[in-house]
Amino acid sequence: MQVGLTTRLTDAGSADVAEAARCLRDGGLVAFPTETVYGLGADAANAAAIARLYQAKGRPAFNPLIAHTGDLKAAQKIALFDSRALALAEAFWPGPLTLVLPKAADCPVADLATAGLDTVAVRVPAHRVARELLQAFGGAVVAPSANLSGHVSPTTAAHVRADLDGRIDMILDGGPVAVGVESTIVGCFDQPMLLRPGGLPREAIERVLGCALLQPPEEPASATSQPLAPGMLASHYAPRTPVRLMAEDVRPGEALLAFGPASLPGLANAVAVMNLSERGDLAEAAANLFGYLRALDAKGATGLVVMPVPHHGLGDAINDRLRRAAV
Ligand code: TXA
Ligand code: MG
Repeated sequence: MQVGLTTRLTDAGSADVAEAARCLRDGGLVAFPTETVYGLGADAANAAAIARLYQAKGRPAFNPLIAHTGDLKAAQKIALFDSRALALAEAFWPGPLTLVLPKAADCPVADLATAGLDTVAVRVPAHRVARELLQAFGGAVVAPSANLSGHVSPTTAAHVRADLDGRIDMILDGGPVAVGVESTIVGCFDQPMLLRPGGLPREAIERVLGCALLQPPEEPASATSQPLAPGMLASHYAPRTPVRLMAEDVRPGEALLAFGPASLPGLANAVAVMNLSERGDLAEAAANLFGYLRALDAKGATGLVVMPVPHHGLGDAINDRLRRAAV
């Protein structure tokens, strides 16, 4: 463990970004904002740096990472794009979409980052700071969400600091992120498959593909098997407080995560109440999700009860995260 490092928290001006790029080149670990969540970056070609990254996160080593590039051309040095993958990249990059593709012949991404798979996950993020960092660094940057393994994904620099202070080299503070849930992951296999719902609604992807996305096979039963998309492990998004979904009431000692107009029996006695979106806006709810889970988790409640969230658009990703939080 590299607990005991001094973690520099800086703004995200051009001098800070240049310093962060140098840090990555030296094998350092830099947390930076993307439009979805904050990522913890390392040089994708530097296995030692990636090993430190797994350590810093306390992440199971079989969980492969997303390689971030500045543009499609750089992504094509890493992965093989067929015509459907190209169509998706052209429609949605830069943006909250990750494609899992066969590795290119001389793929520079270290095997450790792909957990030994012959596929690689790639994405071109849209956030100004992420783009400037990738451009200044010049190569691909692998970046899982910048939280300790098993904690919720960070949407502000303060969340990153709470989990990783003393374990990483630098945090670029670019303010709160816009999307608030991770990228949607599509496996470009014989038939395109939705591996993780996320910030880009599946309907938009299906419109470009002209066909439905397949659902992944059932989740692996144990954390020791080699899953298709190991980030779908149930333990990935877990507040410490036990979570109860589909609230119809608030019981003594519970805190409430609400959505839309809230008038449940027991509401007045709730330990704390936060509303993902009073007006029932799913994008607003997604942007608030991880921050509110964290905040309610810190209230010392005996349980965290969650109101139902509709299952369309970004609601899919929100429900997916909530379901994992409840395991
Ligand atoms: O929005 C995001 O995607 C954020 C930002 C920082 O880009 N990153 C992120 O990374 O969420 P992470 O490591 O927390 O999640 C990456 C997911 C994991 O579920 C992992 O299993 C999956 O991508 N993945 C990576 N490579 C894969 C591969 N070759 N095949 C299947 N799944 C893969
Ligand atoms: Mg994560």
